[in-house]
Amino acid sequence: MEITTASSQAPSNLSKYSLLVVGTPTYGGPGQAVVRYIDRVGDLYGINTTIIAVGGGSPERSADAINQQVRASNGTVVKSLAQSSMSTLIGVVPSGGAGSQADVARQAGAQIPP
Ligand SMILES: Cc1cc2nc3c(=O)[nH]c(=O)nc-3n(C[C@H](O)[C@H](O)[C@H](O)COP(=O)(O)O)c2cc1C
Repeated sequence: MEITTASSQAPSNLSKYSLLVVGTPTYGGPGQAVVRYIDRVGDLYGINTTIIAVGGGSPERSADAINQQVRASNGTVVKSLAQSSMSTLIGVVPSGGAGSQADVARQAGAQIPP
């Protein structure tokens, strides 16, 4: 497992990975570094992909935009989550607990046969 930011250092050859988890903030739309990263990868060759978008009020738009971009790049979206970062802050969704971003990523990984 590789955990990385969406920088130019992030792996762009994903052939040895079985799951791509894309996390994005919302700044009007999805984070531009994330959008550029997926552009850089180019063809996702069907890789199973989980999308986790956070935002203060409208993370759904970011999740939808990344969803479309992943599909257009031949990725397979297995799970998409739009979560208010405020709900984490006020404890509606405990970070690290069931329903958290980490939990969603774990569940998505567990669905993939070895
Ligand atoms: C400049 C700016 C613009 C933002 N625009 C939106 C927005 O359009 N919709 C939204 O839901 N949240 C918006 N937010 C809130 C962020 O998505 C939220 O704070 C998120 O947790 C940011 O992730 P980060 O803490 O990793 O930077 C904005 C925040 C900033 C600073």
